[in-house]
Amino acid sequence: MCGIVGVLGNHEVAPILVEALKRLEYRGYDSAGIATVQDGRLDRRRAVGKLANLSDALVHDPLAGKSGIGHTRWATHGGPTVTNAHPHQAGRVAVVHNGIIENYRDLRARLAHRDFHTETDSETVAQLCEEHMDQGLPPREAAVATLKDLDGAYALAFLFQGEADLIVAARKGSPLAIGHGDGEMFVGSDAIALGPMTNSVTYLEEGDYAFVTRSGVEIHDAEGRLANREMRTIPAQSTQLDKGGHKHFMAKEIFEQPVVLSDCLSHYTGAEIELDFTQTDRVVLVACGTAHYACAVAKYWFEQMADLPCDVDIASEYRYREGPVSPNATAIFVSQSGETADTLAALRYVKEKAARVVSVVNVPESSISREADLSLPILAGVEVGVASTKAFMNQLGVLANLAILAARQRGTITPGRAEELRETLRALPGLINQALACEDQIASHTAELSEARSVLFLGRGPMFPMAMEGALKLKEISYIHAEGYASGELKHGPIALIDNAVPVIVFAPRDALFDKTVSNMQEVMARDGKVWLITDADGAREAGDGTWATLVMPQVDPILAPLLYAVPAQLIAYHTALHKGTDVDQPRNLAKSVTVE
Ligand code: G6P
Repeated sequence: MCGIVGVLGNHEVAPILVEALKRLEYRGYDSAGIATVQDGRLDRRRAVGKLANLSDALVHDPLAGKSGIGHTRWATHGGPTVTNAHPHQAGRVAVVHNGIIENYRDLRARLAHRDFHTETDSETVAQLCEEHMDQGLPPREAAVATLKDLDGAYALAFLFQGEADLIVAARKGSPLAIGHGDGEMFVGSDAIALGPMTNSVTYLEEGDYAFVTRSGVEIHDAEGRLANREMRTIPAQSTQLDKGGHKHFMAKEIFEQPVVLSDCLSHYTGAEIELDFTQTDRVVLVACGTAHYACAVAKYWFEQMADLPCDVDIASEYRYREGPVSPNATAIFVSQSGETADTLAALRYVKEKAARVVSVVNVPESSISREADLSLPILAGVEVGVASTKAFMNQLGVLANLAILAARQRGTITPGRAEELRETLRALPGLINQALACEDQIASHTAELSEARSVLFLGRGPMFPMAMEGALKLKEISYIHAEGYASGELKHGPIALIDNAVPVIVFAPRDALFDKTVSNMQEVMARDGKVWLITDADGAREAGDGTWATLVMPQVDPILAPLLYAVPAQLIAYHTALHKGTDVDQPRNLAKSVTVE
């Protein structure tokens, strides 16, 4: 998703802006640009594609100045072209924007007498502000008047001709942080962007706008009143971006899982979770993407362990479906970034209706975290790879803890069984280490997999959503078409796809339904299909013959097996993508944090 930076510095700002934009690359983008004020004059450089192209443009045509704003754009309105890239300039105003201006058509019509250059919604912000300045308003007032006319979601930074000591920043729907330096000030989409410059950060609240100058920041709330917002010190490790010796962030994050899961589980062993599941009649789990599959796994846990009916929804559907919400429901919103626009909107929709709104998030200062009645951090640390791995793992860790808690409170499992499950969770980081040791074995089959045009993933019970997550990981980073199916559903359609060119990956620990899954596997093999069975030692002994490949995972209580089988799913996707030579950490068209609908 688009990234914003702004710097009022004491040195040449162009390299600092590009460096800060690099730290936002992980969000996904397809063009970038910066604008500066030099000798009172606004100027900008923009380029399509990676930041290296912007750096090249700056080598050939440098941009001087100690004040500037920068942007990485993830195209929404208008393709990724230089003209559509931010900053947008209208006369004396340059603007960078993250979000969507929903009333941009009306605004364009109102400003029809002005000369528009781009197909973007964002340009209307610059044009509108310049219009206000034409009517005599000074920069600050013009920016505030502009904000009043905008509908939609935005994080914005304005830079003005003749104003080398002013950035106006505003937040509505998309996060924005103000960084405090020594005689310097910064603006950024997140604290990570500002990491090398400062760790003293003030987050704007919803509706806030701020006048940033080198001597400090003046923040106003949506009503224009002066607002006091806390300045926080961000721990250095939470803004560090290094690959730890791995080729990709995704690999680093896959291999971090034993440690981050263990940290998360220890946190929740010690912490009292203030939730009472005895009075609730339903659990509603809402999320997008990988987080949605974590919810789909958790449905099996809440229903089987705690005898609690559980609905799982995709946020973009849930928010508009207007389905009934029981006032006794516990609604849980799961999100790595805590900023996903659809998940946030679904949370707001349900807030008045459900008894309790809980969030399970990785970014504690995010909107979804702040707007929930209770926020449960997953403590995975910064996740940079666009394809979520360790966040999925820790979402499962937190949701498993909640399901066990619910089951204990409702008396649906014995204290002994609860202890057994907790013991299994505690053992999982060790088992995940063993699964990671299978990397070479997995990699030895992915060259062939990378030739496939389509791949099916199958699973039953909690392994069904794992199959869908495995398919999502593969398509996200290798661009191979993949589908996850419930094993029992194979014969109701997808079996028509089977031939020796469509590999079928089966997640099947030796559980009560194993024989049924093996029958489905046999149906594939009888049609010349290539099966990659991922199971445990017992499963391999019983059904490993005749497969294209069999991978043996450590033995684990089947109900919690998704945490373990996530590892081969991730490594299969990762190594297949390596063979295909795709951009693993920033796959095409994807964004890490999706702050638009
Ligand atoms: C994007 C990312 C996915 C992620 C989804 C939900 O689509 O590419 O990896 O699962 O958003 O993001 P969230 O931050 O809400 O977990």
